[in-house]
Amino acid sequence: MKLITLIIFSLLFLLLLDRVASKGSVKAQAVTPPRGWNSYDSFCWTVSEEEFLHNAELVSQRLRSHGYEYVVVDYLWYRKKVPGAYPDSSGFDVIDEWGRMVPDPDRWPSSKGGKGFTEVAKKVHSMGLKFGIHVMRGISTQAVNAQTPILDTTKGGAYVEGGLAWRANDIGIKERTCTWMSHGFMSVNTELGAGRAFLRSLYEQYAEWGVDFVKHDCVFGADLDIEEISFVSEVLRKLSRPILYSLSPGTSVTPDMAKKVGNLVNMYRITGDDWDTWGDVAAHFDVSRDFAAANMIGSSSLMGKSWPDLDMLPLGWLTDPGSNEGPHRNSKLNIEEQKTQMTLWAMAKSPLMFGGDMRKLDDTTYKLITNPTILEINAFSSNNKEFPYVTGSHAPIINHHHCSSPLSCHKTKGGRSHTNSLTLMSCKETKAMGWSTETFDQDLDQVCWKDAEKQVAAFCLYKRKARMTSDEEVGYCNQCSGKTQLLATTKAAVCLGASPKQRLTSKELKRGSLSTCKRDANQMWELNTNGTIRNSYSGLCATVQALEAVPVGIRSWVATGRRGEVYLALFNLNQAKTTISTQLSNLSKVLPGVSLGVAYKCSEVWSGQACHISRDSISMDVEAHGAALLVLVSNRS
Ligand SMILES: *[C@@H]1O[C@H](CO)[C@@H](O)[C@H](O)[C@H]1NC(C)=O
Ligand SMILES: *[C@@H]1O[C@H](CO)[C@@H](O)[C@H](O)[C@H]1NC(C)=O
Repeated sequence: MKLITLIIFSLLFLLLLDRVASKGSVKAQAVTPPRGWNSYDSFCWTVSEEEFLHNAELVSQRLRSHGYEYVVVDYLWYRKKVPGAYPDSSGFDVIDEWGRMVPDPDRWPSSKGGKGFTEVAKKVHSMGLKFGIHVMRGISTQAVNAQTPILDTTKGGAYVEGGLAWRANDIGIKERTCTWMSHGFMSVNTELGAGRAFLRSLYEQYAEWGVDFVKHDCVFGADLDIEEISFVSEVLRKLSRPILYSLSPGTSVTPDMAKKVGNLVNMYRITGDDWDTWGDVAAHFDVSRDFAAANMIGSSSLMGKSWPDLDMLPLGWLTDPGSNEGPHRNSKLNIEEQKTQMTLWAMAKSPLMFGGDMRKLDDTTYKLITNPTILEINAFSSNNKEFPYVTGSHAPIINHHHCSSPLSCHKTKGGRSHTNSLTLMSCKETKAMGWSTETFDQDLDQVCWKDAEKQVAAFCLYKRKARMTSDEEVGYCNQCSGKTQLLATTKAAVCLGASPKQRLTSKELKRGSLSTCKRDANQMWELNTNGTIRNSYSGLCATVQALEAVPVGIRSWVATGRRGEVYLALFNLNQAKTTISTQLSNLSKVLPGVSLGVAYKCSEVWSGQACHISRDSISMDVEAHGAALLVLVSNRS
């Protein structure tokens, strides 16, 4: 009897300890860069409960022991997947009586009966994982239009102030819609008690569902809404359940902007969307260098630490940006480019959110994302920064101009060839004007962008009359009447598409913008008489600018390890194999106090080979777009 009492008391005591410990963790969130899986790169917005849980199960089995602990449902989980619904459509969302988004019951059957994500969160937790969701800024246009009442969670029932029951249309700021989803969401006025009550009612509900992570979108970078971020952060801090706070996206983010939010959140994107193109990977070097130099990596936050986020890892089995048709291709990055991405993401201590479909995880990708040295550096290294003391030499690079399509390359009058870039922007911008239509032949009109002097056609697309190929497509695109597809050539059925999310990084008109013509909103364009062309998917207009050059040259990063080791990453951004050299004595210039002595052991992580050091110098042949990652250990240690 006594023994049993003792056991019971011990159990109660342990339970209490556990409680105290978990309370304590509210203050110590994200002590290392968060790691997990996100549905966006492989499912766009249309992931179902079954697909999500299947992926989560596989994350639990294969990645959890490597620190991947969050599984995150990306955007529009509340949107009905029916003909006519697309990211910037309106009227297809499932909202509750208080104007809050709830999961689409057809895609998320366990949400029926007002249960929201409770059941999904429970299952995720039973797998030993944490559950995350994507949410948009402010309030949905649909709630504003429906004039839904606002829930006062402090009193229960409708929010009443000054004798008035406030409604969604009183708090939504119609002039401040989300740029890339202008029909979907708008900011909420946080100066109003009702506005604050609404936001509180959202995040308290997420906590009730069992959410551990929110990815708050369209509030940062070019769409900065500091008031909302500040208020949401305050609500999250008061919750008994710790919720990790992540911001997205990160177009035009500077360290100064990040300093304003760094202590309010746990991670924030510092670039636009990263997809599987070399240009996207290469575009991350400068920005991560700047954030490292500004001491933003792992800076302290009121909720633990905060991490500059380089975005998901588009590796393995993916869908196209903005494409709902499901997973259908392997990452377009070659193996060297993939190693470069993993190496930079590790050295810059970015959160690691794998984007590939777990059901098709191949061995190469698995080894890349679970490489023990990469994960050790990502979580535990310090003094991470760019290392400028490297030199490179390579055989002369022949600059090939890839004129695979009239869009990617064109010759101006003077005969100089340059690459054009397509950017999406608000249709109100005069910079978006510059398109005109000319008849090409009987069936085809040309839609041409004229250069700044409006004399030379910078490039032309071909307008095709809508031609339905199947009943399903007719149904799917019933919002597309009066709109047209723009073909790249007259011969192949290759169409211009645009994803509002892709716009955020893609300054170039990359191959990803051209794909087999499909009658989906992504590829539908409306021609306005004022010379703008509006994309149905994003509601944004296209403009053409000269391509910002993809960085070339060599880069290097250093960091120190937990056991006194030094990590030295050598990156070759050139299109040719390059020999990258450095003198190790120069390490002390950027790592004060770090001295390896005269004798080192050196190994290269990706090849597993020892590296050759001759006296103080080290030279590595690094493949085009590739990386070498050296681990230097003093012989004396
Ligand atoms: C290392 O430092 C020395 C002395 O400051 C300098 O001459 C040399 O160029 C540096 N090496 C590299 C690879 O930058
Ligand atoms: C061009 O016309 C469209 C459609 O009428 C309008 O929405 C847009 O604001 C106009 N843009 C400019 C720059 O005048």
